[in-house]
Amino acid sequence: MRVGVLTGGGDCPGLNAVIRAVVRKGVQEYGYDFVGYRDGWRGPLEDATVRLDIPAVRGILPRGGTILGSSRTNPLQQADGIRRIRENLAAREVEALIVIGGEDTLGVAATLSDEHGVPCVGVPKTIDNDLSATDYTFGFDTAVGIATEAIDRLHTTAESHMRVLVVEVMGRHAGWIALHSGLAGGANVILIPEQRFDTEQVCAWVTSRFKASYAPIVVVAEGAMPQDGDMVLKDQSLDSFGHVRLSGVGEWLAKEIEKRTGKEARTTVLGHVQRGGTPSAFDRWLATRFGLHAIEAVRDGDFGRMVALRGTDIVRVPIAEATARLKTVDPKLYEEVGVFFG
Ligand code: F6P
Repeated sequence: MRVGVLTGGGDCPGLNAVIRAVVRKGVQEYGYDFVGYRDGWRGPLEDATVRLDIPAVRGILPRGGTILGSSRTNPLQQADGIRRIRENLAAREVEALIVIGGEDTLGVAATLSDEHGVPCVGVPKTIDNDLSATDYTFGFDTAVGIATEAIDRLHTTAESHMRVLVVEVMGRHAGWIALHSGLAGGANVILIPEQRFDTEQVCAWVTSRFKASYAPIVVVAEGAMPQDGDMVLKDQSLDSFGHVRLSGVGEWLAKEIEKRTGKEARTTVLGHVQRGGTPSAFDRWLATRFGLHAIEAVRDGDFGRMVALRGTDIVRVPIAEATARLKTVDPKLYEEVGVFFG
């Protein structure tokens, strides 16, 4: 049997660990061979492939990024996209596709599998941790670790200058990275997209922190929004799945804080550093287990399904279920951390 593998959407630490596990188990235990597709859905769409065998996956476990490349190509946007994918898979005798991606990439896999008979197995990835049906996605733990280290470092420079430091983190429309790194890093304010923030209240927390002779750290998720306004964006362009590029709220908030409190404020936008570099041990562990279970699902002919973490078990769920809605932060969980604000 020949199996295709692709990685789509924003890259994230742990992608190579999945690829390695899929290939190692597929070759060693089932005698399969593999086709690596380049740059997400662009690969099967344009028949862009790379060699994918055991030598190709040697040494990649600790490497960030993806040896297959990634893109946000949306084949459903192209008139003949589905036909081209089916023809290209058939020409190479690829009988199953392992699709490693987030909401968008897996959304395409659900449509292809459920409506067009393309046999896909999904593997959930994203630093944002916003996919339903799985307790965690790999990449998230690494991103939280990087953001936490940044917050730790920002505390000392903020204290030296008695300034406000606003840290903008990724996460799209979910506040998971902000919440986890903000809590772990001892932030004085954490702002998430799930709950609009009151800028006056943020300023009150900032002021009370200064009164206690400490410099405040404000962690703001890129998708967070003020109560009395729209999402702050510095770029309005859309990707091929129709998503706007988030970022800008950190800069905006630092200016508002300066204006309203008279205190000096600076912004650090962590950006893609949260996605780069070597995966944490947890992400290597989770990604490897996802890979092992994904190739097992291929062996069982269990298509249209995604591997997911439930507690400590890896289970299979319909891909469509995982992509139907975003997993966002529960207001009760957010309320719990409020005790540390100010
Ligand atoms: O979904 C992962 C993510 O890193 C988001 O947190 C962020 O909004 C987006 O991707 C950035 O996308 P790009 O890599 O296209 O700039």
